[in-house]
Amino acid sequence: MKKLPLKSWIEAVHPYVPGKPISEVKRELGLKNVIKLASNENPLGPSPKALAAVRKALREIHLYPDGGSFYLTDALARALKAPKENLVIGNGSNEIIELLARGFVSEGEEVLSSEGTFLVYPILSQVCGARYVTAPMKNHGYDLARMAEKITPRTRLIFIANPNNPTGTYLSRVDVEAFLKKVPDDVLVCFDEAYFDFVEARDFPDVQGMILAERKNVCILRTFSKAYGLAGLRIGYGIFHAETAGYLHKIRQPFNVNSLAQIAALASLKDKAFHKKTQKLVFAGRRFFYREFEKLGLPFVESQANFVLFDCSRDGETLFNAMLRKGVIVRSMKAYGFPTWIRVTIGLDAENRKFFKCLKECL
Ligand SMILES: Cc1ncc(COP(=O)(O)O)c(C=O)c1O
Repeated sequence: MKKLPLKSWIEAVHPYVPGKPISEVKRELGLKNVIKLASNENPLGPSPKALAAVRKALREIHLYPDGGSFYLTDALARALKAPKENLVIGNGSNEIIELLARGFVSEGEEVLSSEGTFLVYPILSQVCGARYVTAPMKNHGYDLARMAEKITPRTRLIFIANPNNPTGTYLSRVDVEAFLKKVPDDVLVCFDEAYFDFVEARDFPDVQGMILAERKNVCILRTFSKAYGLAGLRIGYGIFHAETAGYLHKIRQPFNVNSLAQIAALASLKDKAFHKKTQKLVFAGRRFFYREFEKLGLPFVESQANFVLFDCSRDGETLFNAMLRKGVIVRSMKAYGFPTWIRVTIGLDAENRKFFKCLKECL
């Protein structure tokens, strides 16, 4: 038989390994009580308003969704104070990462990012045949000076997770503005702000301001998966220069965002009390984690996101497995290049306490 025309650069991709689902851990280890602090989900669940809206909308799932996500785009535009023409809604912000790679990168071209960042960037870049180039980190954060040195005439797209996953570090307005001066106009810089809602830093950059001032080579990605508690429905969005948004609309599938996701996101956006409650929980949780890690003498990285990265000073994979057997799912950071580090999502107060009890037992 003749060989199928598999592309060598796709065969070389290492697939993304997500956090273990609770049901899988219960099934495999025969456990009854399992908590998951592994995928930066919202421990409060979805907004009750989103649930009510989805229940109502269930009756209409025999119809195709609104292909232009009209009502959600309209509400987002008002909430963000940005024109509708600048927005693209996606099947999770992951879909928009894919649209950017497909839209801007061809075989042999380069996508630039940092070491120790979101693992979906290399996967979706390599699938397009691009060379994925990284710069080393500085103090667990992006080193923009080193990244600027890696820009070549083949660089088409730059991904910057701000705040970064999995370290929780952020880049300030000054850092970002200095970097952008070194980026050629024909290279698109994508600021992935999946954890934007958890930022307390006052010097966080205003990339939207740059876009609305007609800067064409920057864009922002945001998601409803984290602060809005809709990870299972897959919905996120991007803010682009209107020309870029129009271009991406040509690439996306006609019904890329399902109807329940649109309805739930719209209801969540209006539920300001739920959003505030989530932020309060994360801000207090972060401080609790810092205090507890200090008591244990374990190094950690200060975070602007809903998770904290800590150094368990031993093989992280072994500790991860020990905690798993006790019903606490966290994330080993081996795949991200931090073999002794663990990332833990901030949960409900009782979950956070269970995590520390379990950690102490396993150490
Ligand atoms: C930095 C970053 N970007 C994007 C995403 C993907 O979010 P979504 O669920 O909207 O696809 C994540 C999810 O973990 C993330 O950490």
